Amino acid sequence: MHIKQETDMRKTFAIISHPDAGKTTMTEKLLMFGNLIREAGTVKGKKSGKFATSDWMEIEKQRGISVTSSVMNFPYKDYKVNILDTPGHEDFSEDTYRTLTAVDSVVMIIDATKGIEAQTIKLFKVCKMRGIPIFTFINKLDREGREPFDLLDQIEEVLEIETYPMNWPVGMGKRFLGILDRYNNQFVKFNGNDPESYIPFDDLHSGDYQAITEDTTFKETEEEMSLLDEAGDQFNIEKVLKGDQTPVFFGSALAPFGVETFFDTFIDLAPTPKARKTTEGLIDPIQEQFSGFIFKIQANMNPAHRDRVAFLRVCSGKFERGMTVTLPRTGKSFKLNQTQQFVASSRDTVDEAYPGDIIGIYDPGVYRIGDTLLEGKQTFEYDEMPQFPPELFKRVTAKNVMKSKQFKKGLEQLVQEGAIQLFTTYPMENYIIGAVGELQYQVFEHRMKHEYNVDVVFESVGERIPRWLKDQQVDTTLFDDRNLLVKDREGDFLVLFKNDFALRWFTDKHEDIALIDLFEVNQYNQA
Ligand code: G4P
Repeated sequence: MHIKQETDMRKTFAIISHPDAGKTTMTEKLLMFGNLIREAGTVKGKKSGKFATSDWMEIEKQRGISVTSSVMNFPYKDYKVNILDTPGHEDFSEDTYRTLTAVDSVVMIIDATKGIEAQTIKLFKVCKMRGIPIFTFINKLDREGREPFDLLDQIEEVLEIETYPMNWPVGMGKRFLGILDRYNNQFVKFNGNDPESYIPFDDLHSGDYQAITEDTTFKETEEEMSLLDEAGDQFNIEKVLKGDQTPVFFGSALAPFGVETFFDTFIDLAPTPKARKTTEGLIDPIQEQFSGFIFKIQANMNPAHRDRVAFLRVCSGKFERGMTVTLPRTGKSFKLNQTQQFVASSRDTVDEAYPGDIIGIYDPGVYRIGDTLLEGKQTFEYDEMPQFPPELFKRVTAKNVMKSKQFKKGLEQLVQEGAIQLFTTYPMENYIIGAVGELQYQVFEHRMKHEYNVDVVFESVGERIPRWLKDQQVDTTLFDDRNLLVKDREGDFLVLFKNDFALRWFTDKHEDIALIDLFEVNQYNQA
């Protein structure tokens, strides 16, 4: 019973966006609601030079950006909120993608002045693939942006998801008056720097608010809203929970405006932890015995301690510090004594945790990303961690050949952490590193130097389109630099195509060779 109560209180989600759409600003506002911070500007100030409280690694401090995903948790109303931060800069990694395997829902922030941007599409694809419910916040309404109908059309067309506007903006930029909150039947009035005020729809036309209701923009918006009521899609929570419809909220994270209404509605609607797929069928979160999986491994978060921390999502039962768990991959058992919960930069010891919670466990080098940990005699494993296609590729060597032993060790360990992927050319064995973003190379270079004492040299292979070969019996003579044949860590062949043209040229010429896009494979595995 206790486990069910605790599980039903958990709301575990991530905020995704293209850089500069306002993720940090939004996170900050949410942390203020949770009383975790009192002052805006403490999470990250790019210009002021203040660093994110979630910046752990030295490289993050040097650059003032957030590389690693962090986790923040706080109580809000009747709930316990876990926000998983995803790296917010242009350069994100597989970590960002993987974080999405550990959440129950996602908040997608879109800049109203820009609409959907490249990174939103990539992150959205992963959510869609996993059927994660997506709540959309269209930000920066205090600026002149694109028309709301255009923005909805774009979401529907580009992301192929039904939209349901939970509120509808009355003007924008200088003419911004507020939002008609369709879900809570109230007009939320924008008062500039003063707090917003709320007027129930029923009272709006009572005569007391003529200054508002007689405004031309307001009248036009009311008409638009009746159009939406008549012709738009119906709100459908089942569709939302399956990831087929996204509730859309308009507002401004900076003002802040509409953020509290958004968060209250989101918290009510967002799903609590549900049963998850395993090798032995679905496992209910409220079952007695503890289980969870590792979605991220991070080394040296605190340079003073050369530790590795594995991030574990609790999926069922109750976690207690000191408990003994089994790792089904190896059959070995461990006692989990050193555990942490993450609240921005401080790391508190955690004594117990419930489904939906994320805890950090000390990793003496035995865990891998995707590992399941189980209490008692259970034997199942959570669904395999999907592999995500890297986009950038570089050849890597040690500057000093005498250091090749450390080089290999470092390479192996960093690859195991999963921020980068390792490939070897064939038949000549050269190392190629693939990553989702450029920053991962800088992190890799920095860590090889500081943790393994090896200077590395990169040689760019450029942006490439990776396609795995379905049939591994390949004629190696068909490949050259434009369609580079390499092997992945499992020894499977894939081809790194130089561009779309090279890919098309190859597929036209070799229709009999089946190529697989990893996104498609993942989608297939999830179905
Ligand atoms: P990110 O984490 O998604 O990269 O975005 P972030 O919150 O850092 O916001 C990017 C820029 O957009 C910031 O300005 C921020 O102040 C601004 N911004 C966020 N929300 C709103 C909004 O609702 N309205 C308006 N007008 N601007 C918004 P900056 O000048 O680039 O950075 P900073 O030095 O102020 O941090």
